[in-house]
Amino acid sequence: MASDSLKITDNRTGSSFDLPITEGTIKATDLRKFKTGPEDFGLMTYDPAFMNTAACRSAITFIDGDKGILEYRGYPIEQLAEKSTYLEVAYLLLNGELPAKAQLDDWTHDVTFHTILNERLKSLLDAFRFDAHPMGRFMSTVAALGTFYPEAKNIFDIECRNKQIVRIIAKVITIAAFNYRHRIGMPYAYPDNDLSYAGNFLNMMFRMTEYKYKPDPALERALDVLFILHADHEQNASTSVMRSVGSSHVDPYSAVAAAAAALYGPLHGGANEAVIHMLTEIGSVKNVPGFIDKVKAGEGVKLMGFGHRIYKNYDPRAKIIKKVADEVFDVTGRSPLLDIALELERIALHDDYFVKRKLYPNVDFYSGLIYQAMRIPMEMFTVIFAIPRVCGWLAQWQEMLEDPDQKIARPRQIYTGSQRRDYKPISSR
Ligand code: CMC
Repeated sequence: MASDSLKITDNRTGSSFDLPITEGTIKATDLRKFKTGPEDFGLMTYDPAFMNTAACRSAITFIDGDKGILEYRGYPIEQLAEKSTYLEVAYLLLNGELPAKAQLDDWTHDVTFHTILNERLKSLLDAFRFDAHPMGRFMSTVAALGTFYPEAKNIFDIECRNKQIVRIIAKVITIAAFNYRHRIGMPYAYPDNDLSYAGNFLNMMFRMTEYKYKPDPALERALDVLFILHADHEQNASTSVMRSVGSSHVDPYSAVAAAAAALYGPLHGGANEAVIHMLTEIGSVKNVPGFIDKVKAGEGVKLMGFGHRIYKNYDPRAKIIKKVADEVFDVTGRSPLLDIALELERIALHDDYFVKRKLYPNVDFYSGLIYQAMRIPMEMFTVIFAIPRVCGWLAQWQEMLEDPDQKIARPRQIYTGSQRRDYKPISSR
């Protein structure tokens, strides 16, 4: 008997099998050997919400949730946040290695020179109601963008695929900013190729009548660091959607639009917006204990920006973000909501309810305060999360397409409905 195997005896039949253990997992399909008879489909696992199921092998992002470790391609997030730039990190995630100087120059040039949108997309933006949520606009515009590039469906043509990856990463800042300008009734500000990726986004968001927009270097760097922190996070809900939708071999624009929809929810990327709503509702530091009591009473109130499926110690991104917040507030002035956030964190980190459940601030707890200080309206927060996460989605999608183990994603179910029965005419129901 191999030592790296699992012996299971099926007490229904007495049969037992050794299942090989590889990389800390058994193959779910090996369980099909356990049958009660020839008609039996075989044993399955039941794992709603994928609490204990590895759906892929991946070499992109490593997380140790108990130790609070996050690495992209082996590089600690702390080092990347301090020393790298978002475009360099995007290259790393997509290609597996940090770029040499010439590679980075080419990549930066390619992304910078693909930021312009086809002008016809502007009529799509015009179709939205003036107050349409920017995430609804974002996912629709990304999906519509794909219709301009019908060749994008050639997903196994590497050159064509890389071109779409450049286009998507380049154009999401323009889509995001145009949607914002449309919402507030401002004329669109076009990309300026002299600016960095983050600087260009700020330019398209905030440029008024000045001949040349000059982003504040501290805010530009802060946004770039936030982009680095949000670029990938292994198999989270939206990335799983990207892989699942992509497994049908649809074009990447459609898959990115679907992943963005998953990100929109308040339990995922929508939490940064929900945090500001929560802090505003609490209103003042003196109301914090009362709010914490409501959360603990389980009255359906959650401490938004706290807790994580994987991190059970701390979220390393939250630590970096707290530092970035201080740097941003030095430029913009302190957010009045910061004191409430700090008090919530202080109480929660010492309260038994949160300690027992290992609930710590996550990436969304302070990021909203930074965006707000940068004059980015609340409804845009999840879009700002989506912009860099697009790169993670594409890296994971590309890895999935090249993985010979992968097929169209198709989970099983346990059927709980009626037994077969005959149709009843409406008169006898
Ligand atoms: N406030 C109060 N209680 C909480 C919270 C919270 N934020 N998060 C979890 N709990 C409690 C939960 O009620 C449960 O308690 P009990 O055992 O008594 O039933 C226990 O902690 C375990 O929670 P869970 O819901 O089983 O944990 P999960 O892994 O399914 O959910 C989560 C993870 C992130 C969805 C959840 O912590 C949450 O809803 N947090 C607030 C929303 C949020 O900040 N989301 C952003 C996540 S990080 C960025 C991203 O991924 O997009």
